[in-house]
Amino acid sequence: MKVLITAGPTREPLDPVRYLTNRSSGKMGYALAQAFADAGHQVLLVSGPSQLDVPPGVDFLPIETADEMHQAVARHLPRMEAAVFAAAVADYRPATVAGQKIKKAGETLTLELVRTPDILGEARDKMGFDGILVGFAAETENLEANARDKLGRKRCDLIVANDVSKPDIGFDSDRNELLLVFPEHTVALPEDEKHHLARHVVKEIELLAAGRKS
Ligand code: C5P
Repeated sequence: MKVLITAGPTREPLDPVRYLTNRSSGKMGYALAQAFADAGHQVLLVSGPSQLDVPPGVDFLPIETADEMHQAVARHLPRMEAAVFAAAVADYRPATVAGQKIKKAGETLTLELVRTPDILGEARDKMGFDGILVGFAAETENLEANARDKLGRKRCDLIVANDVSKPDIGFDSDRNELLLVFPEHTVALPEDEKHHLARHVVKEIELLAAGRKS
């Protein structure tokens, strides 16, 4: 099947030399891209800045900002059969981008931030996507309840949830522990390498796609 994956952080510029970002390495999204490609699927990886190598056989579309990721997804989603939103998209960006480097002046500096587009939230309603839709949830508390709430609100088929408060796994780690939250049930995948977990997630998405067709 044709699958679009978003991965990595976004980078929201403040002036020509500064930006706001987060600790996402892109490892989970890239592992998913590789697992899908290894299983014979056609993958488009829309990624924010990451140090990782693009997995072989994967189409790659690099972006920097949430707005650029939004445009790339809106353009390519219509021809996809599945979409996995693993990117850690900035929820806010600076309201204005200064044309010149911001000079230090007073003792404090207040930044005004504005919301970025909710790409996952637009997939069903605004972009009209009717393929398999998978979102991620990174939470520090009430993991399953928050993921289940997101599953309904964003009209996803699956939310892949991870607890980012746990040391040594999750953000920037090669390991993770996942909760797969489906409309009718939940599957816990115990701590493992992201590459192994990715293969599991791909199998679950293949089952969802097969279920749609029958
Ligand atoms: O609501 P929250 O940001 O926690 O949801 C996370 C999910 O939404 C992830 O799948 C992430 O890739 C996606 N997301 C998005 N656009 C945003 C923020 C999050 O697609 N602006």
